[in-house]
Amino acid sequence: MTAPPASQGPNPTESVSALPSVDGSKGDCALGVDQLTKHFGDRVAFDHLSFEVGYGEVFGFLGPNGAGKTTAVRTLGTLIAPTSGSAVVAGIPLTLKNGSEIRSRISMMPESPGLYLRLTVTENLLCFAGLYELDDVRKRIDRALRAVNLQDRARDQCGSLSKGLRQRVALARALLNDPAVLFLDEPTSGLDPVATREVHDLINSLRSQGVTIFLTTHRLEEAERLCDRVAILNTTLRLIGRPADLRQQLFRRSLDVRLRSPLDDPGVLFGAVGEVEGWEQTPSGYTLTVTDPDLAAPAVIRALVRVDADVLSIVESHHSLEDVYLELIDEDVEAKRR
Ligand SMILES: Nc1ncnc2c1ncn2[C@@H]1O[C@H](COP(=O)(O)OP(=O)(O)O)[C@@H](O)[C@H]1O
Ligand SMILES: [Mg+2]
Repeated sequence: MTAPPASQGPNPTESVSALPSVDGSKGDCALGVDQLTKHFGDRVAFDHLSFEVGYGEVFGFLGPNGAGKTTAVRTLGTLIAPTSGSAVVAGIPLTLKNGSEIRSRISMMPESPGLYLRLTVTENLLCFAGLYELDDVRKRIDRALRAVNLQDRARDQCGSLSKGLRQRVALARALLNDPAVLFLDEPTSGLDPVATREVHDLINSLRSQGVTIFLTTHRLEEAERLCDRVAILNTTLRLIGRPADLRQQLFRRSLDVRLRSPLDDPGVLFGAVGEVEGWEQTPSGYTLTVTDPDLAAPAVIRALVRVDADVLSIVESHHSLEDVYLELIDEDVEAKRR
């Protein structure tokens, strides 16, 4: 399978020499966002967002409904103006004047594909390629169809395609202009697990070819599976980092101890082990909060053996990104109650 190149140089017909390069060279970032804010009247859609996305990165914007994800995509995609703050998109400062230049270097796949259902797949792509005023249209369409594995459906009417296949046509459309940055707004929303997996595979294949992807999702496992880094958003940016780091940052590390029967005096036993910071009883044993699981586990095992406890297992607890996310969103709910 082939796909468009990761990024594209400036359009030679337009004068962009004063603008930063977009070729993904070192030190460049695909997106640089500084204190970006969007209000709709009194309503704050997102507030003082600051982050950077590197070329070739798959960056996840994760948050519940109403968190401001779509508004952020529409703002960075130049469809609406921010209320305050600044951003650089595909190397170009986000201003009204630069709108069309930015749009030529990015692509957006909105949540609903928005295709002409009575037209065939190829006719849809021809129509959008015309709107984008692209050259080499047939070649681009052919390449985009190959990238999403849809060559054999090129002559089918879009109305006859399943939701998953329509999503793939929308992805092909988004690839037509060889975008330096591809915005995907909830790309698997409403898809069944098989179609979801197909879209995930396509995103991974685009990633392996170096395409920079900004992906919004409310699906935790999707962010965890696809993204190099994830920002958790709930109007404000709550946390940003690699999925594994987020888990570690937010949660104290712990050990799950399973015993055949409860201890007579767990407080005294665990209290005497220096690496154990706290403990709580669970249905099958105890969860211990520890400084370092690798140091704590042997010390805990020795203490348990000394009191003849029947140890079934001791394992480090693993938290999913879902735990991190729910913890943050819960904090927000708590904060709103105060
Ligand atoms: N055009 C608009 N006019 C007024 N409020 C809007 C508009 N678009 C979005 N909002 C509000 O901004 C907030 C964020 O919405 P949105 O960006 O769609 O969230 P998400 O995509 O994370 O579900 C919501 O409170 C929403 O009601
Ligand atoms: Mg949305």
